Amino acid sequence: MPTWTAIAHPGLENVVAAELREHGFTVDVQAGWVRFEGDARTVCAALPMLRTPDRVLLQIVEARAQGSDGLAGVVRSQAWKEWITPEATIEVDVHGGGRFKDSVEKRVVWTIHEALRGPRIPEQYARPRLTQRVSVVFDRSGERVTVSLDAGGGLLHRRGWRTDISKAPLRENLAAALLRLSGWRPGEVLIDPFCGSGTIGIEAALMAAGRSPFLRPAFACSEWPALRVKPGARTRGAPGVGAPGVGARGAGAPRVGARDASGRGSGATAAIYSSDRDAKVVRAAEANATRAGVNVSFQTSEIADLIAPATKGYIVTNPPWGHRLNEARSGQAGGRVIPATDIFNRFAIVLGERFAGWKVVFLAPERDLARRLSPQVRPLATFPNGGVRITAWGLG
Ligand SMILES: C[S@@+](CC[C@H](N)C(=O)[O-])C[C@H]1O[C@@H](n2cnc3c(N)ncnc32)[C@H](O)[C@@H]1O
Repeated sequence: MPTWTAIAHPGLENVVAAELREHGFTVDVQAGWVRFEGDARTVCAALPMLRTPDRVLLQIVEARAQGSDGLAGVVRSQAWKEWITPEATIEVDVHGGGRFKDSVEKRVVWTIHEALRGPRIPEQYARPRLTQRVSVVFDRSGERVTVSLDAGGGLLHRRGWRTDISKAPLRENLAAALLRLSGWRPGEVLIDPFCGSGTIGIEAALMAAGRSPFLRPAFACSEWPALRVKPGARTRGAPGVGAPGVGARGAGAPRVGARDASGRGSGATAAIYSSDRDAKVVRAAEANATRAGVNVSFQTSEIADLIAPATKGYIVTNPPWGHRLNEARSGQAGGRVIPATDIFNRFAIVLGERFAGWKVVFLAPERDLARRLSPQVRPLATFPNGGVRITAWGLG
């Protein structure tokens, strides 16, 4: 059974692992990544519904490789024709293994093209959609190498609908992780009162609809020759693909936009509210939601004016907390600078007065700032975000 690696934001490995478990995979959690096994069709079909990983990689080989010639030998002996079409543009990321990153990257690209036994397709003729990223990771000794294919074709937070971006946006997969950490389930009331470009509410609405969060037409793995089925042909087993048809929901490449395999969320009525004090930002969030094809109730509102639309529910939010919005310039009211501490104080008053019994999950870099909401806040996970280590805090 092929081995896969889901790259996680360090600190969110357990969130990624929980999502993979829900899809039926057995996982091995490591620092920064989650390893799991699955046949290529099954994983490629599940990919459009995975919301929290940064990347998903299929391991092609893990072997001893001494020096550049050793690496070239390992790369050359793999069945690349099963995975990469000759017209694809190949991009290689090398991690570890010394100083000669550029030359190693070039040599791996060259060796794969040679193994494909076709002339290198000049860049101008390559179909731009067909980019296959290859990951080459050396271990600490620099003598063992793992070569993998990026099944998603790049960073998976890029969903395709967030083209209107406000200040300090949260990556979409981190928003999905925050929602999972909160325990919110589709059908329950959700509010993001500092919505910015609307990421949290839109991710939640996509979950509630049981839809893929991606607008992209395809993933790199849908182009893998081993997974392609010619019209009229029987599904065949390919090296490393697993038993013919096993786990494949329909033969061939996965469809993007497919509904959640688990059925979780499908049919749930979404009561999702997002607001922000900045009307321009709210318009941008609405445009993003329209592109994503989801219904979120948007409003321009200062945190102090936030009203509870129900007696219980979840507030999941990324308030302005300083660093990325320029320390102590988090909110500007008519040109007046409002320090993040003041915004947290206002938020605390609103929670105390109008949101008793609600569960709250929010981001803040420091305990002191987080405790302005309540001394009872507890850390749920800490991870890097925009160059800062940030903690998701829970309350209630
Ligand atoms: C860190 S950003 C949120 C980013 C958002 N999660 C995203 O992915 O785009 C914080 C947002 O809080 C808003 N904000 C600042 N002060 C506010 C206040 N007093 N009341 C409501 N919103 C406020 C800002 O306009 C900004 O869009």
